[in-house]
Amino acid sequence: MAPLRLGILGSGRGSNFLAISKHIQEADLNAEIAIVLSDKPSVMLEKAHELGLKNEFVDPKRFASRERFDEALVSRLLAAKVDLVVLAGYMRIVSDIFINAFPRHILNIHPSLLPLFKGLHPQQQALDAGVKESGCSVHWVTSELDSGPIVLQKSVPVLPDDTEQSLSARILVEEHTLYSQAISLIAKEMESR
Ligand code: GRF
Repeated sequence: MAPLRLGILGSGRGSNFLAISKHIQEADLNAEIAIVLSDKPSVMLEKAHELGLKNEFVDPKRFASRERFDEALVSRLLAAKVDLVVLAGYMRIVSDIFINAFPRHILNIHPSLLPLFKGLHPQQQALDAGVKESGCSVHWVTSELDSGPIVLQKSVPVLPDDTEQSLSARILVEEHTLYSQAISLIAKEMESR
């Protein structure tokens, strides 16, 4: 079966992108990274460049509105012929223009057990709520933030002396496996359609 073509969008350090890339290199995941886009001149783009992947910083300031910016992203993703859009630490809310261009073909990973702790600082929200376990969720992106159908989840314990940093680090380890597992699952589903 042909490898699934991924378009990856991020804003920062890109550890989930690197984990996906590693799983592809190790043949754990039958996919290829067709393009990496960022709304910031990020570490993620530097890593994509080092890996010889097509990548681009698309500066939101060059566009009159969020919609025009999203159109620019969509045109790049379409030109790269992506099968699946993968948000990996992408810190912008995508508009309906973006969502409608790839219906049920945009994934996100969020560091909580959704539907709990949507939005910013979910790990701190988990600590503030006093829960004994948290985790991460891979879900489809819809127009409501962090609310689309869940593909896979993984839980981790919250320890009594946890800080936002220590809990984030424990969750991130699981994110790095869960995202590729979810993409793999979707690749198989798409193949059998
Ligand atoms: C991850 O915790 C992810 O769940 C969240 O943003 C963070 C991105 O980290 N959406 P990285 O850029 O993949 O290292």
